[in-house]
Amino acid sequence: MRDAAPETTQTVTRLEDYAPPPVAVTHVDLRFRLDPDATAVTARLTCERRGAGDMVLDGEGLTTRRVAVDGAEVTPEIEDARGGQRMILHDLPDAFTLETEVEIAPAANTELSGLYLSNGMYCTQCEAEGFRRITWMLDRPDAMATYEVRIESDLPVRLSNGDEVAPGHWRDPWPKPTYLFALVAGDLRASSDRFTTSEGREVALNVWTRPGDEDRTAYALDALKRSMRWDEEAYGRAYDLDVFNVVAVDDFNMGAMENKGLNVFNSRYVLASPATATDGDYANVERIVAHEYFHNWTGNRITCRDWFQLCLKEGLTVFREHQFMEDMRSAATERIGQVLTLRARQFREDAGPLAHPVRPSAYVAIDNFYTATVYEKGSEVIRMLRLIVGEAGYDASVALYFERHDGQACTIEDWLRCFEDATGHDLSRFGLWYTQAGTPRLSASWVTDGGECRLTLRQEVPATPGQPDKRPMPIPVALGLLDRDGAEVASDTLVLTEAEAEFVLPCPSDDVVPSLLRGFSAPVVLDAPLTDADRLVLLAHDPDPFARWEAGRALAKDRLARRVVDGAAFDDGWLDAVHALATGGADPAFKALALALPSEDDLAASLHAGGATPDPDAIWAARRDAGRAVARRLEADLPALRAAAATPGPYRPEAGDAGKRAWAATLLRLMTMLDGGDAARAAFAAADNMTDRMAAFACLLEARDPDAAAAFERDWRHDRLVMDKWFMAQVAHAEPAVAVDVAARLAARDDVPVTNPNRFRMVVGGLTGANPAGFHRADGAGYDWVADRVLELDAGNPQAAARMSTAFETWRRYDADRQAGMRGALDRIAAASISRDLREMVERMRGDGDG
Ligand code: TRP
Ligand code: ZN
Repeated sequence: MRDAAPETTQTVTRLEDYAPPPVAVTHVDLRFRLDPDATAVTARLTCERRGAGDMVLDGEGLTTRRVAVDGAEVTPEIEDARGGQRMILHDLPDAFTLETEVEIAPAANTELSGLYLSNGMYCTQCEAEGFRRITWMLDRPDAMATYEVRIESDLPVRLSNGDEVAPGHWRDPWPKPTYLFALVAGDLRASSDRFTTSEGREVALNVWTRPGDEDRTAYALDALKRSMRWDEEAYGRAYDLDVFNVVAVDDFNMGAMENKGLNVFNSRYVLASPATATDGDYANVERIVAHEYFHNWTGNRITCRDWFQLCLKEGLTVFREHQFMEDMRSAATERIGQVLTLRARQFREDAGPLAHPVRPSAYVAIDNFYTATVYEKGSEVIRMLRLIVGEAGYDASVALYFERHDGQACTIEDWLRCFEDATGHDLSRFGLWYTQAGTPRLSASWVTDGGECRLTLRQEVPATPGQPDKRPMPIPVALGLLDRDGAEVASDTLVLTEAEAEFVLPCPSDDVVPSLLRGFSAPVVLDAPLTDADRLVLLAHDPDPFARWEAGRALAKDRLARRVVDGAAFDDGWLDAVHALATGGADPAFKALALALPSEDDLAASLHAGGATPDPDAIWAARRDAGRAVARRLEADLPALRAAAATPGPYRPEAGDAGKRAWAATLLRLMTMLDGGDAARAAFAAADNMTDRMAAFACLLEARDPDAAAAFERDWRHDRLVMDKWFMAQVAHAEPAVAVDVAARLAARDDVPVTNPNRFRMVVGGLTGANPAGFHRADGAGYDWVADRVLELDAGNPQAAARMSTAFETWRRYDADRQAGMRGALDRIAAASISRDLREMVERMRGDGDG
């Protein structure tokens, strides 16, 4: 079976072509003489023959000064390959030393891949294929070597992986692939702490920042210590070096990077203080610090054989991150948040032209496969596996994985084999979750009589690019049966392995409401013929909080869809249920999630899946009207509810207070719909933390307050991370008709350079992600403007441009004019002289390979 392999003029890398390198590099000795325009990199590679054939090294943009084998200079054969070069060495001895000297220019590196400069700080990003932009090497994850690194520079702080044996001189005893290499040098300040591992190792912890940011590192250090302890307790994994360094970098393509002993973070995911960071920022810091730390075992000690196995480290590490967050905060609200993210990003991807399996089998640019499917669905697949083999089975399988594969570069087959060997389960069918793309549709029907409930479950996996025919996959369905009074009369976890099956559950009542897919036990779309009355029972009584939330969500979604399609009024039955929830005793964080309406994009996707053509303006208006109807129904209660949600005392980032603030923000939004912004103005003036300030600011923007943006800017223009929020909020909350103009005005400012991914993404992503009605403006102005930004970004940073281009992946959903506008934007990008990364994305979105 083939998937999403683009029919293209570009070189495609295929899983089936994997072959181990014939010559291994066992040790890498590197010397850097740092200079912005001409950094000299000397490498001594200790090499050993493992099979027959030439040695092929990867390089990109290197100025090669010298190549020598065992001290004798050679003239290598160098040819162009996949956007870079290849050096081919023939007739090599069985064991030898390869020396190279190259020159690179960090100051000219706008891709933020390889060695580059950010505010005078040198830093590296090597995943996935950035190391070849530093020196000649087998730049592939199955080439694991120990490293020794010497950094020559006047800069006071010089860091690399492992332990420091002398100033600027580092040794990493753990064999690792190139993508985990890192180097950082600059005038940096450390915020330090210590941690003693369960094995008695004393570890020095440092978070390195630019001078002036030291007062924003406490939460990251705290999250790091909790992550280290958690991995010992939950997985028996202890840290394995004497130092753990984290560096905050302002110019960074993604969230953070798990380099061995030297994690590099986008500064927005490590720096946090009450005055400058929101609860959402704090949660992201905790989540990403944990994620990168957990990679030390799932990714670094056990790595990937090739990049097709990316989910081996990412899916597992996201799952571990999810478990950690559920333990640290409220498991129920964390799970709801995970599902919201999965649906918003992964279901969207799976339903469009970019759909691909959790383990893809072909790519042009691997950077294009750091996707929601590999990460989030990859995590869900492991959650299902755990449900199927049970907690004890999971623990035993993972223990076997660590024992059997420590120090190796592995595949998904290796991973699944551990589960089979440890539990005796046959997982050959389950493996389809890794190789088949598309979100399965699960439909349910039931009849009860004679003390039994006969439940029929059916599944269908939709066709996706390159995969027209699918086989059924094992789908775990956690469920319960509630009677009309809300009492649970049965519960079970079933596994649907065939296309269709009937299950018989004992059931004392003839009138039951099935609660299906509790905890979102599988990443599927569920069609169940539940009535409003059924959903109200679940919303009020289901013991599973996810299922309660889901029932409320379905009620709201149904109202919004009918409003969009028929202009239906909002019925009292629904408004009364919302009122009961808002005034009831549920956890404030849960109430905030339950009262949040389904997003515009979610509604558009559902309408499209149901055969309708979504109208972005009508969706936007329906959500506004629903908000107003809820606000009017709750009007008398809003002041008291908001007063009860107050968090007296100093700001604390912990989940309980954060939940109250989220609920208070929900209430303020409802008040703003009725009072035109009076309450929000007072809240904005009174805010003593960034969470409350941003909540009030968003309300004021929605109320079209003429002064809020200028007031905010006066207070915060000196703070780059806070200003990022200011940019984003103005675009996100702009009136759709003018959102493109707002974005264009902001993007034209000097402080929105195309070279800073964070800032640039705030403005463009504010439109494409957070203001869909603005992006999809009927005259196509949004499409044209975004296409221009993608092209502008591609000239310097192809990875980021390729990512941004996914704004167009939904083009098939819309009406003929919008389709033409989005297709036209893609065609215009394709006709330009663009990067390999962006071309792959555009060709896949246009469906060029689908024949
Ligand atoms: N491995 C990183 C993580 O998920 C993500 C990553 C991949 C990345 N490629 C990158 C980060 C490029 C920054 C730049 O944890
Ligand atoms: Zn990761």
